[in-house]
Amino acid sequence: MNELSNIKVVGTVEAVRDFVKACRKEGKSVGLVPTMGYLHEGHESLIKKSVAENDVTVVSIFVNPMQFGPKEDLASYPRDLEADTKLCENAGANLIFHPEPSEMYHDDFASYVDVNGLTNALCGLSRPGHFRGVCTVVTKLFNIVTPDRAYFGEKDAQQLAVIKRMVADLNMDIKIVGCPIIREEDGLAKSSRNTYLSPMSRNESLIISKSIFMGKKMIEDGERSAAKVIQAIKDNINTSAIMDIDYVEIVNGLTMESIEEIKGDILCAVAVRVNGDARLIDNFMMTVE
Ligand code: PAF
Repeated sequence: MNELSNIKVVGTVEAVRDFVKACRKEGKSVGLVPTMGYLHEGHESLIKKSVAENDVTVVSIFVNPMQFGPKEDLASYPRDLEADTKLCENAGANLIFHPEPSEMYHDDFASYVDVNGLTNALCGLSRPGHFRGVCTVVTKLFNIVTPDRAYFGEKDAQQLAVIKRMVADLNMDIKIVGCPIIREEDGLAKSSRNTYLSPMSRNESLIISKSIFMGKKMIEDGERSAAKVIQAIKDNINTSAIMDIDYVEIVNGLTMESIEEIKGDILCAVAVRVNGDARLIDNFMMTVE
């Protein structure tokens, strides 16, 4: 614990703007780490990267209702502001923006940000409206914080690609920094949703990372048929009776379009429902000559 750090938690757009204005007056650069809270080492790595690259770091903690479907886990999404505040403080962040939904979405809210094309695949297909919610809230956060840089995890690889495209298309003057997936020692990708897993499901979930590592090894060993790699990953995951595959896809890493031949920048992405408890995602990205 850094005894000298003194993180502020604010809930209004006005308070964030005042803070950022004061930083700008002193010529300070600002990094933003957008999160939905229940922070783990993955988020911590984003915050630390922002702290290393900017004079001040703002972390937003907002479980954004707009990016959840009607049957999804908005109500049960884990929340722990006290633990999150400690993690942010220890990682060196300066401000937490923790608004109420009513601060972000007034009753007459009517404006949305849609990115077409690359949202028509993967999570965009299985979670209709999800990326509209993500792009709208991220645009709002960018407009509120006006960061120089913003940090996103590569675990949500499609989200990262969509946000990069949005920033380029809409001329947002913000550098988007992608940060590597952080895993548990046994390989499971860190996720706030891992908390939904019973010990038994947690253990069986290792099949997800093991299967994608196997797929990666197939490509490293020369396999170039996307269909064969996808099938091998599916077969491996299906050896567990409690895994219900949402998708296993290999796509172009920039456009998210399906590919047949593994070549260039690729993303292999997996989404699996575990025992009806949690929907977990994982992936690897590769450049293949
Ligand atoms: O990745 C997340 O946690 C969320 O999608 C984000 C970027 C904070 C937007 O709500």
